[in-house]
Amino acid sequence: MTQPAHGTHTLETAMRRALDLAAQGPAHGPNPRVGCVLLTPDGRAVAEGYHRGAGTPHAEAAALDAARAAGVDPRGTTAVVTLEPCAHHGRTGPCADALIGAGVAAVHVSVPDPHPVATGGAARLRAAGIEVTVGTLAADGEELLRPWLHAVRTGRPWVTLKLATSLDGRVAAADGTSRWITGDAARAHAHTVRARVDAIAVGSGTVAADDPALTARTPEGALAGHQPLRVVLGTRPVPDGARLHGPGGPLLHLPTRDLDAALRELGEREVRHLLVEGGPTVATALLAADAVDELHAYVAPVLLGAGAGAVADLGVTTVGDAARFTTRSVTRLGDDVLLVARRRAPSAECPDRPATQPATQPAQEEI
Ligand SMILES: NC(=O)c1ccc[n+]([C@@H]2O[C@H](COP(=O)([O-])OP(=O)(O)OC[C@H]3O[C@@H](n4cnc5c(N)ncnc54)[C@H](OP(=O)(O)O)[C@@H]3O)[C@@H](O)[C@H]2O)c1
Repeated sequence: MTQPAHGTHTLETAMRRALDLAAQGPAHGPNPRVGCVLLTPDGRAVAEGYHRGAGTPHAEAAALDAARAAGVDPRGTTAVVTLEPCAHHGRTGPCADALIGAGVAAVHVSVPDPHPVATGGAARLRAAGIEVTVGTLAADGEELLRPWLHAVRTGRPWVTLKLATSLDGRVAAADGTSRWITGDAARAHAHTVRARVDAIAVGSGTVAADDPALTARTPEGALAGHQPLRVVLGTRPVPDGARLHGPGGPLLHLPTRDLDAALRELGEREVRHLLVEGGPTVATALLAADAVDELHAYVAPVLLGAGAGAVADLGVTTVGDAARFTTRSVTRLGDDVLLVARRRAPSAECPDRPATQPATQPAQEEI
């Protein structure tokens, strides 16, 4: 990598700010979250911008607009951007061209753009004589874009599996009752996750048993601003009177048990992040297919002793074959605990598992 003119410290400080800006954009939607900071030749940040969602200006254009609005000529500035500027005409023009047209002197990028349509921005900038580096705070950039990068690279959404269980791993009591194993704080948290994802899926068994609405709600019970696509997996039809037909996101019934096909279909619909909320049959099938990228386990200090387990037979006969995840955070929610864990990187213990583990170490939350 060329040594940046501004020095590593200035560049990393600007990239950290660009990452914070990017995080202000919506976590859902087909587009990535991107932030951009413009630096003067002496390293002062003079303008910034971020992408506010599909159809709005990209981060680079927003930063250039902000500079001009503040009376700053962007010529000769350095653009610090979390994702490689795009090189294609979408709803907005190519960001690489906007930066070239504005006369920026250098562009520093955290993460290269893997999108087959948008990629090529760095090459275009270099061809125009602009200094480009890629990889500043790359692990942080990758982490911010984790579901989006996964979806663009694989053609399938990032799958988060939510399990709400008793301490003995059960999702329902012996009589089938399952509502409110976890408490208010855990349920409220689960709604904040729903409001961040593109789609929520359940199997037709959960529709039949629980008649869920699968909406994202505020703590006051109102519908959140963003409602994810509601997906039902399974051959049984969704009953006419189901709450899934009521207010909330669009309903998509995929009348299949072929989860690989279902995930590809969702990928084609630009679903980047899918939250699966059960039940045990679909959860087991996804885990058995090694299709779960992240687990959200809400565990209540409740013992049931009997009733359906969160996960059925995975074909594991010895502990060495267990489906292993790596803990990223543990959060106390009222009386309950949320454990977030990611699929494990390949290791001597489980050599066949694919590498989807981030380069950064997870931040542990205090409980
Ligand atoms: N505590 C919790 O977190 C939680 C969450 C959800 C559900 N639950 C509880 O779980 C129970 C329902 O369990 P469930 O296992 O029947 O629910 P489920 O997993 O939501 O639905 C099972 C159905 O999904 C369809 N399906 C889709 N893909 C499949 C695949 N690859 N393999 C097999 N079937 C597939 C099948 O329906 P078709 O026959 O239509 O093809 C199957 O009968 C209820 O008691 C509910 O309250 C608890």
